[in-house]
Amino acid sequence: MHRRTLSLAAFSIFLTAFTGCGKSGGGGIVIGEFASLTGKEATFGISSHEGTLLAIETLNAAGGVLGKNIELLTEDNQSKAGETSNVVNKLISKDGAVAMLGEVASSRSLEAAPICQESGIPMVSPASTNPKVTEVGDYIFRVCFIDPFQGTVMANFVTKTLKANKVAVFTDVKSDYSKGLAKFFKEGFVKNGGQIVAELDFNGGDKDFKAQLTAIKGATPDAIFVPGYYTDVALIAIQAKQLGIAVPLCGGDGWESQTLLDIGKDAVEGHYFSTHYASDAASPAVTAFVAAYKKRFNGKVPDAMAALGYDSAMFLVDAIKRAGSKESKALRDALAASKDYEAVTGKISINAQRDAVKSAVILQVKDGKFKYLETVAP
Ligand code: PHE
Repeated sequence: MHRRTLSLAAFSIFLTAFTGCGKSGGGGIVIGEFASLTGKEATFGISSHEGTLLAIETLNAAGGVLGKNIELLTEDNQSKAGETSNVVNKLISKDGAVAMLGEVASSRSLEAAPICQESGIPMVSPASTNPKVTEVGDYIFRVCFIDPFQGTVMANFVTKTLKANKVAVFTDVKSDYSKGLAKFFKEGFVKNGGQIVAELDFNGGDKDFKAQLTAIKGATPDAIFVPGYYTDVALIAIQAKQLGIAVPLCGGDGWESQTLLDIGKDAVEGHYFSTHYASDAASPAVTAFVAAYKKRFNGKVPDAMAALGYDSAMFLVDAIKRAGSKESKALRDALAASKDYEAVTGKISINAQRDAVKSAVILQVKDGKFKYLETVAP
């Protein structure tokens, strides 16, 4: 207990130094960020935070916005349900954030969105793909595509490229993201003439998946769709291999973390997933971003969550600039009017539902790395 308190305190000092700002009051424009910097989805939170931080530092080096410095205040929700509302309330009422950046996980964005909506604080999610997030209200935006699209992309890939007719679906029932993506995938796959031969559930954070995987094996699918997050997926792949399941596993953007490769090793080889961008894509915007990120973060290659974190911050500040104000209604309207904004992860145009309409990419785990296969336009 004592240890934990100490390490949390140390962490917050580290974070303060890291973000270059601890408390508001410098007269700058305060932007709040909530992220899973620790806990089970930490690699996602750290990536999106690093991308966000790089964007804010770049903007401040170029003079900030509206003649002021941008103060990024970052809070950790520890990947825990219930913690996001605490930190978001604090960022709004105590710190005076004029806008909010976050989160990667849909379940946590869904926790923050009603608070931001009620307070009239525009929120931009970098990577939450569940449709319900922006349905909360007209102050909630995202810079990524949504799961009806992502689910269809993978359904078509499984039908056309893998030529699978029978698929099993293995869903994390604790996650809004997983449940939504499973549903949209199934709809697309059945529409393509495919058959869902098994539907099994798990709870994110489980360690033993053998009972469900045995049932899945018995249904002899041609492929298994697992819309989970990287740690669970790695364990599922290991146990599937131990059970002699040799068909491809497929999933979505929850897979894209180095941790999937570190834990899953050869058990994740050959499997496929959809995500938001490929760091080895040849576009000039991607190349420049990858170089800047590597320079700032000790040679680390940015994943999709890093790229989306960067895009979310740049996109928000562009709207502040266009609004000519940090006032909530003017900022909301400028965000809603965003069109053809050139981001690292592609062009962002905000539609009537306040979602970004963008392409997805499909990657495969190949020789211990993520290999770019194809881009799918909306
Ligand atoms: N796009 C996913 C979501 O909306 C990203 C994610 C997946 C985050 C799995 C955490 C866990 O939730």
